[in-house]
Amino acid sequence: MTVFVHTPVLLDEVMTYLQVRPDGTYLDCTTGEGGHAYAIGRQLSSEGTLFMMDVDAEVLAIARERLDSTAARKVIIRGNFRDMTRLLKDYSDTGFDGILMDLGFSSEQLAGTGKGLSFSHDQPLDMRLDDSLGTTARDIVNLFPEDTIADILWKYGEERRSRQVARAIVRRRQRAPIVTTSELAETVAAVFPTRHARIHPATKTFQALRIYVNDELNALEAGLKSASSLLNPHGRLLVISYHSLEDRIVKRSYLALCEKPVSGEPGFRLVNRKVVRPSDSEVAVNRRSRSAKLRVLERVSS
Ligand SMILES: C[S@@+](CC[C@H](N)C(=O)[O-])C[C@H]1O[C@@H](n2cnc3c(N)ncnc32)[C@H](O)[C@@H]1O
Repeated sequence: MTVFVHTPVLLDEVMTYLQVRPDGTYLDCTTGEGGHAYAIGRQLSSEGTLFMMDVDAEVLAIARERLDSTAARKVIIRGNFRDMTRLLKDYSDTGFDGILMDLGFSSEQLAGTGKGLSFSHDQPLDMRLDDSLGTTARDIVNLFPEDTIADILWKYGEERRSRQVARAIVRRRQRAPIVTTSELAETVAAVFPTRHARIHPATKTFQALRIYVNDELNALEAGLKSASSLLNPHGRLLVISYHSLEDRIVKRSYLALCEKPVSGEPGFRLVNRKVVRPSDSEVAVNRRSRSAKLRVLERVSS
């Protein structure tokens, strides 16, 4: 029996805002192990359809099995949500009553799949969610010029010591290539004075490399644009983000869609003016939820 490692974040809130109709059509762009997808699938009848998308084939296979017993029609699509318009073009029923994006990566990807996403697990330094991508984190730290590494850490990790960290990485690789997450984490940690920090000193470096490797911010912008154009009237787009760079893009994209309806384009409204955060009790049982922010957009006219 498969044990599901990932606990879905803001699950009650997602289900409240999604307002699933049993015969509706829904798209989970970031299915992962299918925690949210399962909750949606259970509310759908055999007249309802759930499209399940993810860039990672391994977790998608887990989700497929998890939803086996649900009555809904399921469509599984392996691919990047930045390409969703192309990925969905062969299906006739692609107006959606609800679309979910739960950004980032799942606990299964963190621990089990050996992608080297976190310093908490000693793994080869890779970080590609999609194996077909060209550049790995190992390539960046071992081959990129020091200035470029520093720029990546600053831009995608908001790492204030980006230049010092980049220098430490380059010094370290002159002795031997940095090939594991532990080697990188140790190299970065050595830059920071010993203290009881709230977060591990390598957190921002790992975030920056992951965003760069997977081109996450550009994918998010493109995905939001496509998703909003695929909503049925009264359909909702829910995005859960985990750091300020993502949330900023979601917020700006939503505001732009609400404020400047180009003639002929659909109109939108913000369902929650204030961002939805997890309760203290959720954070207490699922630490991963602590930085989550949910924003909800609704298409108001056709
Ligand atoms: C936080 S997990 C989703 C967890 C899921 N909601 C659950 O409850 O089990 C995020 C998922 O998004 C996927 N992902 C990240 N970026 C993606 C992208 N650009 N396109 C498609 N999937 C993506 C990851 O592979 C990962 O499986």
